Amino acid sequence: MPRIAEILDTMEYGPSPEDSGIARDWLARHEAGFGHFIDGKFVAPAEGGRFEVLNPATSKPLAQVAQGTAKDVDAAVKAARRAQKGWAALPGSERARHLYALARHVQRRERLLSVIETMDNGKPIRESRDIDIPLVARHFYHHAGWASLVETEFPGYRPVGVCGQIIPWNFPLLMLAWKVAPALAAGNTVVLKPAEFTPLTALLFAEIAQEAGLPPGVLNIVTGDGATGALIVDHPDVDKIAFTGSTEVGRRIREATAGTGKKLSLELGGKSPFIVFDDADLDAAVEGVVDSIWFNQGQVCCAGSRLLVQESVADRMYDKLKRRMATLRVGDPLDKSTDMGPIVAQVQLDRIKHYVELGKTEGAACWQDSATLPKGGLYFPPTLFTGAEPASTIAQDEIFGPVLTASTFRTPDEAVSLANNSRYGLAASVWSETVNQALHVAARLKAGVVWINCANMFDAAVGFGGYRESGFGREGGREGLYEYLVAGWEKDAPALKPVAAAPLAAVPLGGDHDLPSIDRTAKLYVGGKQARPDGGYSYGVTDPKGRVLGQVGLGNRKDIRNAVEAAHKATGWGGLAGHNRAQVLYFLAENLAARSEEFAHRLTAMTGATAKAASAEVEAAVRRVFFYAGFADKYDGQVHDARARQVTLAMNEPWGVMGILCPDEAPLLGFVSLVVPAIAMGNRVVAVPSPRHPLVATDLYQVLDTSDVPDGVVNIVTGERDVLAKTLAEHDDIAALWYAGPADGGAAVEKASAGSLKATWTNQGRRRDWLSDAEGQGRDYLRRATQVKNIWLPYGE
Ligand code: NAI
Repeated sequence: MPRIAEILDTMEYGPSPEDSGIARDWLARHEAGFGHFIDGKFVAPAEGGRFEVLNPATSKPLAQVAQGTAKDVDAAVKAARRAQKGWAALPGSERARHLYALARHVQRRERLLSVIETMDNGKPIRESRDIDIPLVARHFYHHAGWASLVETEFPGYRPVGVCGQIIPWNFPLLMLAWKVAPALAAGNTVVLKPAEFTPLTALLFAEIAQEAGLPPGVLNIVTGDGATGALIVDHPDVDKIAFTGSTEVGRRIREATAGTGKKLSLELGGKSPFIVFDDADLDAAVEGVVDSIWFNQGQVCCAGSRLLVQESVADRMYDKLKRRMATLRVGDPLDKSTDMGPIVAQVQLDRIKHYVELGKTEGAACWQDSATLPKGGLYFPPTLFTGAEPASTIAQDEIFGPVLTASTFRTPDEAVSLANNSRYGLAASVWSETVNQALHVAARLKAGVVWINCANMFDAAVGFGGYRESGFGREGGREGLYEYLVAGWEKDAPALKPVAAAPLAAVPLGGDHDLPSIDRTAKLYVGGKQARPDGGYSYGVTDPKGRVLGQVGLGNRKDIRNAVEAAHKATGWGGLAGHNRAQVLYFLAENLAARSEEFAHRLTAMTGATAKAASAEVEAAVRRVFFYAGFADKYDGQVHDARARQVTLAMNEPWGVMGILCPDEAPLLGFVSLVVPAIAMGNRVVAVPSPRHPLVATDLYQVLDTSDVPDGVVNIVTGERDVLAKTLAEHDDIAALWYAGPADGGAAVEKASAGSLKATWTNQGRRRDWLSDAEGQGRDYLRRATQVKNIWLPYGE
């Protein structure tokens, strides 16, 4: 035993192990192996075997868990389907009571859950006890509230149905709560698959659900590896997939669900910047780094893994960091004074080691404290790379371990551009005592969550989710609930009548043919100017009797690329105040109204619509532009009520550049109904009008010119919808894509969008009643035209 004087000198503390007796008892009761939890009961796996779950601190087995097969998944989906109607039909207050009971029961079993979580995942008991499990309870309480509010707060919406949920191993029970609580609150039922490394708290939660009296079939848990996950994704009777995990698997799920009509939300990887300005409180920032990258051994999707420090304070910051790193205790995660436990599994440890070795060859200086690591478990020391090149692999790839790469910047602009130099966009942390600077930077970061002078804060009331390849959709808060709801009008819309459309017949521009001459050919509209189609071809637009009415350009890939480039240049539009955008839209509405007759004639000539129907369409289009002009400065964000002395600003930000493929029915109104809400929110668009009836869109060029719509805000490329859609879907600089056309075209768009993981909204081959204000306009469109960025801003002491 060291003497007290020595202890005071070294400030060393002895072990303070958490008692794991209750957890060992629970595991002993399940020695024979776990089954799946289906229809309210634990059932032995239908076929197939079990696999071992290991404790990463000892590498010893903890339990035997079932490998879910197609039969198990099918049984679980069937149970969920049987239960769904009844669950959704319960009064919201009844569902609320069930969620509330789950929250209470979780609190009652907090110790057991924390210890099992730590044994299964390796995270320090301090974290599971003080962070993970309390947040789980908070999530169920919060969503118990939503269960009773959903009907009045989301009028016209319905539950999606049966939700397949696939979660990772880094926050096993917390991710379950993030998925299950909103799904059940909204009236869905669930088939959830925990990660193969960490299924135990999900199984314990299933026991809790039984104990709390959750009706059978509402929650089903099937264990297994990625193959079991894929079976859930592919099951035809699942209505929605919610996934958290690697970007690689997220991409595969996007492809697998393309064209199936399954709703999808993806919360994927990250390489989040942690930006420290020279006026930051450096000691606080050091603690922020600890919470960012050494919390949960760095196995956090939103880990602040890229430290960007202003050059003038970099050396001081690094010194402080190294000193702090030397005090981090790596060891037994069940010890209450441990800061970092083992890595979750051998493959993950190998992956981290691989990156660290690679980093050493990439010119960055590697620093690790010399303290020896405990033996036996999968331990890895906190690691810092300084002088990392922004383009190096260790600064670009998600390592998912306790490895921080640091580099410097000189100006705020440079900080923003370095921070955004990533394919991901999950989170960011900004440290500066100047609120003006911090907010100015936060507004320009491409990230779904920004923590100012804080890091890794989570709350059930605040949406969480990423930009770019970090996925789409939000979890938590009001914005998260939309992922588990569907607008009634969208769900019930009838299928579009299939139209056998012949491919557009290309003719050379100005060539030798008997179509109207070249100067009567409508060109494309790119960057505010009329542009000749790159390929030099046009096609004839005919009336219902087959008579040629005119020619329009036949756009190709190059035209789309030019249009995207022009749209990107129009950066000022998104930065304008909503009021200024409104002025432009009012002007547009007036100019369109002034030419109503002309547009109505054009519609009649193209589609054969009666004069009355054509006028009604034009009038509705004018009204719609006015509607969005009115909304341009009113689609407010929110201030979430997350914690005391903290404002969390949920800001609705435009995507940037959007691709929009317009419908054939209602060629003018369909175009206006999609393009105008997108630009009202500050997006720039590349729009492809109805291929069969494009002339109303080409007639709009002049209206756009005379309405002061800045160059590049609306770009119009005429041509074959599905050919152009593919280029847009694959384009890395298109952030979101809307598609209204035949079902197979929508499916192709969803599939092609997997590469850059852009958010898509397709009509699923259904008809929309564009004339109806309930279907053709409203907040749904504005929500789809924006993504929410949550900025956390603490204040006070
Ligand atoms: P993963 O993405 O393979 O696993 C996450 C979940 O998806 C697990 O439940 C797994 O069984 C399931 N899964 C795997 N393949 C599937 C498929 N084809 N269809 C459906 N479900 C499938 O992640 P993994 O391999 O455990 O970790 C690899 C890397 O992924 C990590 O090093 C890290 O970079 C990243 N990752 C990111 C996470 C995040 O929260 N963003 C969480 C876990 C991993």
